[in-house]
Amino acid sequence: MADNPRDDLRIAVAGLGTVGAGTVRLLQDQAGLIAARTGRGLSVVAVSARDRTRDRGIDLSGFEWFDDAAHMAARADVDVVVELVGGSDGPAKAIAEAAFAGGRHLVTANKALIAHHGPALAGVAEAAGCQLNFEAAVAGGIPIIKSLREGLAANGVQRISGILNGTANYILTRMYEEGLDFDEVLKEAQEQGYAEADPAFDIDGIDAAHKLAILTSLAFGTPVDIDAVHVEGIRSINSVDMAFATELGYRIRLLGIAKRTANGIEQRVHPCLVPADAAMANVRHAFNAVEIECDYADTVIHVGPGAGAGPTASAVVADLIDIARGIRLPAFGIRADDLKAQPRVAMNEHVGRYYIRLDVMDRAGVFAGIANALKDNDVSMDSVLQRGHAPGEPVPLVLTLHENREAHMAAALAQIEALDPVLGKPVVIRIETLPG
Ligand code: HSE
Repeated sequence: MADNPRDDLRIAVAGLGTVGAGTVRLLQDQAGLIAARTGRGLSVVAVSARDRTRDRGIDLSGFEWFDDAAHMAARADVDVVVELVGGSDGPAKAIAEAAFAGGRHLVTANKALIAHHGPALAGVAEAAGCQLNFEAAVAGGIPIIKSLREGLAANGVQRISGILNGTANYILTRMYEEGLDFDEVLKEAQEQGYAEADPAFDIDGIDAAHKLAILTSLAFGTPVDIDAVHVEGIRSINSVDMAFATELGYRIRLLGIAKRTANGIEQRVHPCLVPADAAMANVRHAFNAVEIECDYADTVIHVGPGAGAGPTASAVVADLIDIARGIRLPAFGIRADDLKAQPRVAMNEHVGRYYIRLDVMDRAGVFAGIANALKDNDVSMDSVLQRGHAPGEPVPLVLTLHENREAHMAAALAQIEALDPVLGKPVVIRIETLPG
């Protein structure tokens, strides 16, 4: 379908939830500003959602309605399909495929779709002469895809570190600042509309892993490899860890880190202790942040709202504006066929520093067993902290370790966990040094 730049860009929106309704509203509210910036109008002409009768606070009467979004992507007289349905497969993938089959561009906020099928879809889009844009899939209102694909295109990237899930950051911030319980804060985040339909995606690190895998591909010119991301969430963090972290001069953040090493690319999402004065430590509530370490621009930090109707719609419409302006770029910065597989580094090869919290019976000789396990596995300790004195009762004991190989740390921990006075599962939080 020929997109004539003298005409309005005709848009079909699939999915009218928080982001879909926000996108339609933004296009209406900012119509004048957008037309001035692109030299043409951006018109929604067709929409599709599950429930036609639901009041979304927007007037849908001027749009053609489709019950079936894939049918709309194939049949509506449009230049661009906006996919805001979500999910890695099923309807979302069918909409994308139908859009490209019909020669339409696709704009999506769907990180699961891009994390699982991004390079394959980019290949299909390129063969069809279509654009695949997904700025809203990572870090909401922060233009991080544009930054990697365009603004930093002259740089080799060494490392990306990001707060990529607003819900998890909101929970960690409020637990720390107000001493609240995990469950209580999660409920509030859900009420505020940041959280995924399945909260496990937010708190178990899956959502952040999707976003990290996409950023890794853009940063290192390699196919998205979601299966190679080591993922841990924040369920095991409690107020005791918050207090110890503070005492040690750190804050706790769920970070996604992708790093180029001599052996390949490391991709991991897990809770981290970050120095209290680091930029990441001061990113609060549902904000996201991405720190990019690269060779010419040095360290570049982006901070902004990572979710919500306005910020996410802003990213969706920025992609539409690029298409309206005639900007045609490979989805991952280089053509899909040129993305190069690179070795991935397994987590047990990671070398880093660690915080370990054990619950131990407060009695003589406990520490000797722990020290032996560290020695047996060649693990070097930095400090040990025990607060409280409760003879014959459980107390928390915190160890910090110098740089060690993850496999050695894990072996020592397995030995420690098996010791009689050690109760429950140790909590491991990796200590990260960040340049920003
Ligand atoms: N649920 C996500 C978050 C927002 O909390 O960051 C969309 O990716």
